[in-house]
Amino acid sequence: MILCANFKANKTRQETRAYLAVVESFVSANTIDDTVIVFPPFTALERMSRNVLIGVQNAYPAQNGAYTGEITLEQLEEFGVKTILIGHSERRHVLGETQEQIAAKFRFFAQQGFVIIYCVGEPLAVREQGDEALMSYIDAQFEGIDCNYADLIIAYEPVWAIGTGLTPISQQIVEMHAALRAKTQAPLLYGGSVKVDNARSIMELDNVDGVLVGSASLSANDFCEMIAQAAELKNV
Ligand code: 13P
Repeated sequence: MILCANFKANKTRQETRAYLAVVESFVSANTIDDTVIVFPPFTALERMSRNVLIGVQNAYPAQNGAYTGEITLEQLEEFGVKTILIGHSERRHVLGETQEQIAAKFRFFAQQGFVIIYCVGEPLAVREQGDEALMSYIDAQFEGIDCNYADLIIAYEPVWAIGTGLTPISQQIVEMHAALRAKTQAPLLYGGSVKVDNARSIMELDNVDGVLVGSASLSANDFCEMIAQAAELKNV
């Protein structure tokens, strides 16, 4: 399984340090071999040897340059970061990133050999229009994206499930993940209101290879509990 904690714009450097100390000692004490990835804010990046992967939530697709307010490859290299989230719904819908910009970002970071967690997901109004509209919306989010990229992980995060406490019913996740599986052999994560009390049943579903957790990952103990659930699933 792959377990990702997306902090979004939460936590200071000190808080992130304390959090990683808890998660890293949990991972080594329990000899966890699942992949654990934490996406802190840029301000909390540090170069340290780790038993969890550290990724960034965004970056600008350039080596460096005149991109006021952005972070580019040069700054990520300073911290040894080689993992990035691309296409997150908050970047698409709150920050207005277009599919063209997202695809350019994808191409750049794929060329640099990054592990890319590529996010797709539909707003509620699209889901309510039925399966055809739903799939053509998701297909459009793959424009310009190489589904055969070797270090690709896909995250399905329905917009209406993010930060709302709503989750799709199991059948909706299974159907979407089956459709994604037909496109790519990449691992498939589910994200959107994953919590300690639903993580296990989501991770048990067909074609779910892990979870991308927002608010519930802010508690190191809750995130460790989800990591433990993933480890237990292998032993049943
Ligand atoms: P929540 O877990 O807070 O719903 O956020 C999901 C998400 O956007 C992870 O990237």
